[in-house]
Amino acid sequence: MNHTNPQLNKHGELQHLITIEGLPRDVIVRILDTAAPFTALAHEEEKKLPLLRGKSVFNLFFENSTRTRTTFEIAAKRLSADVINLNINTSSTAKGETLLDTVDNLAAMQADMFVVRHAASGAPYLMAQHLAATGRNHISVVNAGDGRHAHPTQGLLDMYTIRHYKKDFSNLTVAIVGDILHSRVARSQIHALTTLGVPEIRVIAPKTLLPTGVERMGVRVCNDMREGLKGVDVVMALRLQSERMLGALLPSPQEFFKSYGLTAEKLALAKPDAIVMHPGPMNRGVEIDSAVADGGQAVILPQVTFGIAVRMAVMSMLAGN
Ligand code: CP
Repeated sequence: MNHTNPQLNKHGELQHLITIEGLPRDVIVRILDTAAPFTALAHEEEKKLPLLRGKSVFNLFFENSTRTRTTFEIAAKRLSADVINLNINTSSTAKGETLLDTVDNLAAMQADMFVVRHAASGAPYLMAQHLAATGRNHISVVNAGDGRHAHPTQGLLDMYTIRHYKKDFSNLTVAIVGDILHSRVARSQIHALTTLGVPEIRVIAPKTLLPTGVERMGVRVCNDMREGLKGVDVVMALRLQSERMLGALLPSPQEFFKSYGLTAEKLALAKPDAIVMHPGPMNRGVEIDSAVADGGQAVILPQVTFGIAVRMAVMSMLAGN
């Protein structure tokens, strides 16, 4: 582990992917550039490359997932890795085995990479630290979402999507709308957008759904959605994370939709060619109206497709390719 940035090895190469915070711009750009040729692979009859042949990738999802788990599996298989999906519900976690004991046992099965989603912020970092402390630096950890902390591959696939449609980050205004407080996706997006030089990032939310001091991340706070959407190039809607809400932060989902739901009428305030993104899963009629989610400006399903190529890029770089 490199002590300045524990995700990089002593040669400055990616060893783990835990967070976008502190990741050098050139590493982010290299991931996006590496992903580009992988998108074309989806249209080929032969979709496999040998870059992870002989490697074992363990998917450890302690929280539910549709997009991230599946696209990591597809990505690893396209790179010719052996993929093992640990079913947490039927694993010995249910009998009280600790995370690090699980890691030790899977490492003893010659794991090369762990892709981990966990409700506890910091769980992937703990795993990476443990592997380093026990001399198993050759095993990489990829954070697939930890608590409210980070969801780096989501942030990266979002950047890939923006670059695909908008080409250049240096003249964009990007709005992130909704439950910023509980969102690991928002944190990863903000770190990526600032590192890539987006000049204006707005976060649009009621005060109860904003982290204290969010301005210090380099964003402009808007409590009024109509004001916040004016003239933006990209709108990133976020899911209202009811499962993470302690106490009543909102009067009701219906009230939230009235003020902060993305409707065609509110979207009309953005630039006419603005794109609409959402990491999924969507709560239709809560943070986004179906007419927008399924409309011509939405790039929500392309985000999912790009996620395969971006995850292929991350895994192949971690494997030293
Ligand atoms: N965007 C995202 O993380 O979706 P899943 O929870 O389905 O993986």
